[in-house]
Amino acid sequence: MPTTPEAVPSRGEDRERQVQTIFSEIAPRYDLLNHVLSMNIDRAWRRRAVDTLGWTDRPAGTYLDACAGTFDLGLELARRGDFKGRVVASDFARPMLVAGRSKLDGAAVAPVCGDSLRLPFPDDTFDGATVGFGVRNLSDLDAGFCEFHRVLKPGARLVVLEFTVPPNPIVRAGYMLYFTRILPIIGRIVSGHPWAYTYLPESVKEFPGPQELADKLEGAGFAEAGWSLVTFGIAAIHWARKA
Ligand SMILES: C[S@@+](CC[C@H](N)C(=O)[O-])C[C@H]1O[C@@H](n2cnc3c(N)ncnc32)[C@H](O)[C@@H]1O
Repeated sequence: MPTTPEAVPSRGEDRERQVQTIFSEIAPRYDLLNHVLSMNIDRAWRRRAVDTLGWTDRPAGTYLDACAGTFDLGLELARRGDFKGRVVASDFARPMLVAGRSKLDGAAVAPVCGDSLRLPFPDDTFDGATVGFGVRNLSDLDAGFCEFHRVLKPGARLVVLEFTVPPNPIVRAGYMLYFTRILPIIGRIVSGHPWAYTYLPESVKEFPGPQELADKLEGAGFAEAGWSLVTFGIAAIHWARKA
């Protein structure tokens, strides 16, 4: 195992393997750390992401939650009162799916172990798709967006929830201090992983900003790409429609 996050390449199969290894290793502590490190704000972001999906137009539909991890985003949709459909929750780190299994408790969420760059589903399968904090980890973002586009039905929406860098310089300075100095220490202590939570801020810094992401979505064939910043621009909710 590499000992520093610099060893995680920005593209290619090595990145795929290393990302899969990181999440497999931190899986047992992922939920705890997620809510502690985000001070539970992530729950409100997930609610807004699901509100953005437009699932009420097709409440009995089949929805994909890609890079699903321990199912928090998929469950947010599946537990909505009027939701009558099902969520297919895919992730390539099996230990993440295993760690989240006890939360499913009869919810209409079907876990699938699969790579978001080679989704094991036919074209035009889903009535909508979500990705929470997943696309930043893909070894080829453009290929990932093309793959999400492929499996969506025409007219269906993709919603992407992802960290971003706050536009306000004062907020950005405070956020970067927390993200690059404090979060890696708490992450290391609680997860026991030497650098997984150093990789997190590094991956956010390298990641394209909201406009570039919207351009990439349109480049992959999506229409009506837009975004909304949440919590001072710490995160962004992106949306786009398969034309
Ligand atoms: C930060 S976690 C997010 C999990 C969950 N969506 C959430 O909101 O908490 C990122 C997840 O993306 C998964 N992932 C990264 N690259 C992937 C790929 N190419 N195919 C499938 N899953 C992937 C990881 O295994 C990990 O579970």
